Amino acid sequence: MTKSFYVTTPIFYVNDAPHIGHAYTEVAADVITRWHRQSGKDAFLLTGTDEHGEKVLRTALGNNTDPKQWTDRLVESAWLPLLETIDINNQDFIRTTESRHKVAVQKFLKQLHDDGFIYQGSFKGNYCVGCEEYKNDSDLVPGTGDFQGQQVCAIHSKPVEQLNETNYFFKLSDFQQKLLDHYEKNPTFVQPESARNEVISFVRSGLSDLSISRSKERFDWGIDIPWDNSHVTYVWFDALLNYITAIGFGEDDAKLNSLWPADVQVVGKDILRFHAVIWPAMLMAAGLQPPKQVFGHGWLLVGGEKMSKSKLTGIAPNEITDSFGSDAFRYYFMKAIGFGSDGSFSWEDLSARYQAELANGFGNLASRTLAMIHRYFNSAIPAPGTYEPADLAIQEVAKSAVSGADSAMQKVMIHEAIAKTWALVDELNNYITIQEPWALAKDEANRERLATVLYTAAEGLRVLTVLLAPIMPKATNKLFAALASSLGRLSDQKIQDSAVWGQLKPGEKVTELEALFPRLDENQ
Ligand code: MSP
Repeated sequence: MTKSFYVTTPIFYVNDAPHIGHAYTEVAADVITRWHRQSGKDAFLLTGTDEHGEKVLRTALGNNTDPKQWTDRLVESAWLPLLETIDINNQDFIRTTESRHKVAVQKFLKQLHDDGFIYQGSFKGNYCVGCEEYKNDSDLVPGTGDFQGQQVCAIHSKPVEQLNETNYFFKLSDFQQKLLDHYEKNPTFVQPESARNEVISFVRSGLSDLSISRSKERFDWGIDIPWDNSHVTYVWFDALLNYITAIGFGEDDAKLNSLWPADVQVVGKDILRFHAVIWPAMLMAAGLQPPKQVFGHGWLLVGGEKMSKSKLTGIAPNEITDSFGSDAFRYYFMKAIGFGSDGSFSWEDLSARYQAELANGFGNLASRTLAMIHRYFNSAIPAPGTYEPADLAIQEVAKSAVSGADSAMQKVMIHEAIAKTWALVDELNNYITIQEPWALAKDEANRERLATVLYTAAEGLRVLTVLLAPIMPKATNKLFAALASSLGRLSDQKIQDSAVWGQLKPGEKVTELEALFPRLDENQ
């Protein structure tokens, strides 16, 4: 059986509704998956929700409801609808409260316990409920405002809680050298490079064993430890396992083997250590391979800090998509922020790029090319005559856009792939301005030249629809249907074959195309 390309997002805490920082992770993972699907592979995207633990429990109780009702309501009303809002094509959605997950987590725990990787011990430390994580002193910073004079979590700006517990531990420290060897042998296991360096130096500085259970005297919203039902599983240990419980761990080996190891696991940099240190160690202990790659992306910032609902800086994704549409949302966040770096969102920047790059750049290229084919060739793709150097230059730009974008995507440099593609948008717009088809159309003697120019523009557009399909699925499907329906479905066009020139058949009809990116003033 051939292995599918398997991409995952982190699973999201359902203590609140999603904001654009969450949507950012989802879109990136979706773009990567769609790219590989458009390259002719089977590609599988998993996303879902992380529903256990103290953070979710406290929020539910604070809202006078029980955690199951709370998570059901939020998943239905907010997290599943998010996927529609930003056009995510996921193949599965896992909730950690589902029995398929709970049963498999217990099997995993039992295996590690039987094999001697789990022991009972006691632990004292500072716990941040926001992070659901014990913190070292070096992770804390002086508080401000209400918390002046106290040490607070650097991410949540809230005080940590002193915990003193007897519980079960995973022998993480046994894996220090194995992890370092793995990083060494697999230089792209953690990306980008800055994330890799941070992880390596963290692991070099020494690993402590990990507390993986919580006493039910403290709270019981979690998965029972299979050999001791006075404890529930630590929420991160439970959550990380979703990546294999969703694909058949302990239940369906054929399915597991058709997907695992994951090809790219997309995570925010705040949760990199869980994914690049704890997670591969858990897998090694169970005799499974680590994922091929963990990619740590940056944060959307507001006022220099990570956007978050708890700090009231979260923007709901539909505030943007209601006016700009899901394609523009996806394009903007993937293009404007280098994938792996932090970036600030601003309405001004979004509007400016929408207007310049989408409406006037790509959208206008599409509408004027089709309009001229309608007007001058009675809606039929014209037959090209002899190609001149300017036409051949476009073919070269198309080739290098395809190969440049593809090699950027293999490195998960999404912004770079879009920039390489945009060279073709800009070059085609220049080409049309210079060739002036509207002037050629005035003289019947230029008929063949006019046909060559419009055929070149149409072929260039065809290449763009394929390259941009993973980023802007709605606009590209509309454009492909109007321009190239004789070639079948857009989903069947392979990225790597797209620059082969001459695929559009002269004589085939093009159809009307509505504005792909309506001007904002018309839109609002
Ligand atoms: N539940 C854990 C993940 C468990 S995975 C086994 C979690 N959930 S989360 O809801 O807090 O965050 C989910 C993802 O959203 C993370 O990748 C996080 O980095 C991302 N983001 C949350 N806020 C963000 C920004 N402001 N900017 C970019 N990404 C952000 O952590």
